[in-house]
Amino acid sequence: MHRLTGKVALVTGGARGIGEGIVRRFVAEGARVMITDVLSAEGAALAAELGEAAAFCAHDVTDRGQWQAALDATEARFGRLDVLVNNAGVIVFKRLDDLTEAEIRRLVDINLMGVIHGTQLAIPALERAGGGAIVNMSSADGIAGANSLSVYCATKFAVRGFSKAMALELGPRGIRVNSIHPGGIFTPLANPTNVPRELYDKGFWIYPAGRAGDPEDIGAAAAFLASDDGKYCMGTELAVDGGLNAGHYYMAMPGAPKPPA
Ligand SMILES: NC(=O)c1ccc[n+]([C@@H]2O[C@H](COP(=O)([O-])OP(=O)(O)OC[C@H]3O[C@@H](n4cnc5c(N)ncnc54)[C@H](O)[C@@H]3O)[C@@H](O)[C@H]2O)c1
Repeated sequence: MHRLTGKVALVTGGARGIGEGIVRRFVAEGARVMITDVLSAEGAALAAELGEAAAFCAHDVTDRGQWQAALDATEARFGRLDVLVNNAGVIVFKRLDDLTEAEIRRLVDINLMGVIHGTQLAIPALERAGGGAIVNMSSADGIAGANSLSVYCATKFAVRGFSKAMALELGPRGIRVNSIHPGGIFTPLANPTNVPRELYDKGFWIYPAGRAGDPEDIGAAAAFLASDDGKYCMGTELAVDGGLNAGHYYMAMPGAPKPPA
């Protein structure tokens, strides 16, 4: 459990949900972590709870000036940057017909442009540290399409492709780039109407896992990719999706799951 001792990470969208799961796992693995988010109260509270190993920096990933400030703050506080986790993201569940231009631009600005800005601006700090790792949060919806998520899917497919291209460019410079593809994880983003867990899981009967995942599941995957355990992973797309994208069921045939009563 100490695979990240001596490492310094910056985790965007780290104040809650999957980002919080990553922050907690990284600290448990010995890392020091700069939590960044637009949710200042939540981010500061998490950093305070975790003590010396964590700090918080208010940071909107769509703003390049704020990116530079967050990266500078990380080096100033912890002396280096070894790992960048581009996790911050937003979702809108609507048919394409019903999405406004503002919603479309926000999805692209945060989910895609935020990852591009962060990756580009973090390269000098990662090189100063002698190399490192970038973990980009795509989605199961970055591997297969989903209704009500057309533009979200477009951003997550783009993050997957960007990660592979960056793995090629940055691998020879000692920086590994990989993407994670979560399925449904029980967080505020994926559960906007706050359905209780037991009821929520029923909607996932179609997954081989038969339930939603937890932020800790993604924290474990991110720790693997960020640590030396993942040192030969470059351009890897790591599905952590309860089997969602393993294939599809023939419902009338043996081996398919049964819908909940
Ligand atoms: N929960 C899921 O089922 C699921 C599945 C696949 C992928 N993902 C991806 O995982 C990532 C985290 O999602 P989550 O479920 O934890 O959501 P969440 O809403 O619980 O957390 C996302 C965090 O990102 C922050 N954020 C939003 N816009 C930001 C901005 N402009 N700048 C900085 N921070 C910003 C939010 O304040 C929040 O703290 C997202 O990229 C999401 O697309 C989630």
